[in-house]
Amino acid sequence: MDLRLSSRAAAAVCAVVVAAGCTPADGGVQGRPGAAGLRDPYFPKLGNGGYDVRHYDLTLDYDPASGRLAGTAEVTARATQDLSAFHLDLHGMAVGSVRVDGRAAAVNRAGDELVVRPRRDIAEGAEFRTVVRYAGVPRTVTDADDSREGWLRTPGGSIAVGEPSGSAAWFPGNHHPSDKATYEITVSVPEGLRAVANGVRTAERTAGGRTTSVWRSAEPMAGYLATLAVGELRVASSRTASGLPVVTAADPAVAARADALLRRVPEFLSWCTERFGPYPFSATGAVVVPDDRLGYALETQSRPVFPLGQFDETTLVHELAHQWFGNSVSPGSWQDIWLNEGFATYAEWLWRADAEGTPVEESFEAAYESDANWAFPPADPPGPEDLFGPPVYEGGAMVLHRVRETVGDAAFFRIVRGWAAEHRHGNASTEDFTAYAEQESGRDLDAVWDDWLHGDGRPPRA
Ligand code: TRP
Ligand code: ZN
Repeated sequence: MDLRLSSRAAAAVCAVVVAAGCTPADGGVQGRPGAAGLRDPYFPKLGNGGYDVRHYDLTLDYDPASGRLAGTAEVTARATQDLSAFHLDLHGMAVGSVRVDGRAAAVNRAGDELVVRPRRDIAEGAEFRTVVRYAGVPRTVTDADDSREGWLRTPGGSIAVGEPSGSAAWFPGNHHPSDKATYEITVSVPEGLRAVANGVRTAERTAGGRTTSVWRSAEPMAGYLATLAVGELRVASSRTASGLPVVTAADPAVAARADALLRRVPEFLSWCTERFGPYPFSATGAVVVPDDRLGYALETQSRPVFPLGQFDETTLVHELAHQWFGNSVSPGSWQDIWLNEGFATYAEWLWRADAEGTPVEESFEAAYESDANWAFPPADPPGPEDLFGPPVYEGGAMVLHRVRETVGDAAFFRIVRGWAAEHRHGNASTEDFTAYAEQESGRDLDAVWDDWLHGDGRPPRA
């Protein structure tokens, strides 16, 4: 999202500055503060304006006994306007110091916003590096729908999940899904424990009573998809037939029961690849934890997490399908969440047809009959408490099935694969999808969008 002032307004600001005779101290840039949020329809303060993060380099020390996390976040970003100050999202935690391009910066805290004022203004287009030192006991966040996210403590460790906003509980950043970046996460835990994050593990060593591992996500990731699991984890590393690194991890309390399905991750991934096209990331795997804290599975990038009670075949398909739909092609705003959940639910229907012999039509009919799926239109959840409601999941999948019935199987699977390819590693909106489906099929699909995507109530079965 671009929240820059018009160039005319910017010129007016400059004119006033020149008239007042106040030349910027650095002889160049006279910036303005970046916006405190990106005006997401559901979370107006989430994310920040004025810059675009390229890379997060997080160095974290965690002590499960005390629950204390000490971190250094190096955030490399490009300014999208002349900046006098900018915000970072951070929930809880105490900030020790902030430096921008090596110089101490002034910092203010306003709720979940960290306001950073660098010594020198930053020119539009310039790349700058912010280093935040922080520490504290990271918080569990309770969402509008009463689900818990952020930092959850497990019996011997912790699990971090961040949809839609909980990642701000463990690192400062631009936590709106529209600002994707690469990550390197270096985490140190007491010897005897293991830590697993997203992506490829590039190093692990034990010294001085602590084990430190380094995890690299070379492909762009939205902040809500970052994860970190700590505990006496049973970690297994292998490769798929095509050479992709696989890292699975399970809490010792659930490892024996999770093991059989964990070994099948490569098989499920290749099933997805056959339907959705090339896998977008350079690693895969899964993390399984006990049921008591985490109430849902989450598609954290390259390494989804599951509570044991939801670690089953269809949920595995769902979270792996999100790697294409949601993680590689990410929502432009949280209003586009049906694109994530509709595709992931449709993947479950395809799996049931393939593996269990339940025709997709039967899944559609069951969804159609359920009143809960008609509480609101998939593209218009009434509030943040509805973002993960049944109309988003099953309603979203019904939209896709109606597209399939209208355009036919060949065009439908061209749309599915083409959509994943067209917006690979990017962001896309509902309007992007409806335009793409019409363009790719050469059909006017207004009847589908009007009745099934935007319409109130259950339309007649076409
Ligand atoms: N997006 C997750 C999935 O479908 C689930 C999820 C995240 C969720 N937050 C939630 C479900 C809150 C219910 C409530 O894989
Ligand atoms: Zn989902």
